[in-house]
Amino acid sequence: MKRIGVFTSGGDSPGMNACIRAVVRAAVHQGVEVYGITRGYRGMIKGEITRLESNSVSNTIQKGGTMLRSARSKEFMTKEGRREAYAQLKKFGIEGLVAIGGDGTFTGANIFCEEFGIPIIGAPGTIDNDLYGTDYTIGYDTAVNTALDAIDKIRDTADSHDRVFFIEVMGRDSGYIAIPCAIGGGAEIVMIPEAETSIQTVVDTLRTGWDRSKTSFIVIVAEGDEAGNATEVASEVQKALPYMDARVTILGHVQRGGSPTAADRLLASRLGIACVEGLLEGRKNVMAGIVDSKLVYTPFIETITKQKIINPHFIQMVNILSV
Ligand code: F6P
Repeated sequence: MKRIGVFTSGGDSPGMNACIRAVVRAAVHQGVEVYGITRGYRGMIKGEITRLESNSVSNTIQKGGTMLRSARSKEFMTKEGRREAYAQLKKFGIEGLVAIGGDGTFTGANIFCEEFGIPIIGAPGTIDNDLYGTDYTIGYDTAVNTALDAIDKIRDTADSHDRVFFIEVMGRDSGYIAIPCAIGGGAEIVMIPEAETSIQTVVDTLRTGWDRSKTSFIVIVAEGDEAGNATEVASEVQKALPYMDARVTILGHVQRGGSPTAADRLLASRLGIACVEGLLEGRKNVMAGIVDSKLVYTPFIETITKQKIINPHFIQMVNILSV
């Protein structure tokens, strides 16, 4: 393989630049040419493809976002769109791809690889950490630390005013961001899609704390929780506990930005190199990940269909520590 392409797709995550850098540098190290595809599958269809040299990725490892931009492409979901994307890759002589993204990215990559036979290896780039086949995704550690920093600040004001804060964190359908935020932020309760927590449980927990003269309360609500979003949960709880002063904070996209942590830079660098080496070893249709400190390649179909289970002990920890 003499020429490969790299792109980022779906929601950006801190560390994507570190991963692009590692892909470029690992390829150059192996004497392989690299092309950067801008705006994911959308840019692939439009032929937004440019050569990346070693110095194209200088001074990027510490930067948030993605230098290749990102997008979610409806066109790529059609056969016609994928045919056009493949034609563009052929035009540039690209023989293999590194896809950095989450489950939507790998769903597209899986179909593309099966239809046109182009080898693709994925690096898990999402703050959600919801991909089977890796213990951590690129950007997750940074997002958790960003959220935790905000939660600490909210605790200051919550404590000053004897308030209860309902803080909504991202994670799509998973509670991976919510759990460490709850444990690390000393939250009284965590609500995640993987474990049902009723409004009544929230009310009872807060009332018990209030009766024990607790001065502030933090409830972490994962955005995908089935009981509702933070605003809905807060409104229900406030009805049952009218004497408590409730506020809602939705952390939102702040969790997606910022300079990647050391852990994310290291993970991104390791996986970027693994993607290039995997392609050169003849692997395809797999995601590179780290499980129990070891590098593994998991078929795309498994990363997108198998559920990564949250250790129930972590949920239990929140309850134990908030007594
Ligand atoms: O997948 C990353 C993520 O930030 C999720 O946590 C969130 O649900 C979603 O993307 C938000 O997507 P968008 O940036 O399109 O609003």
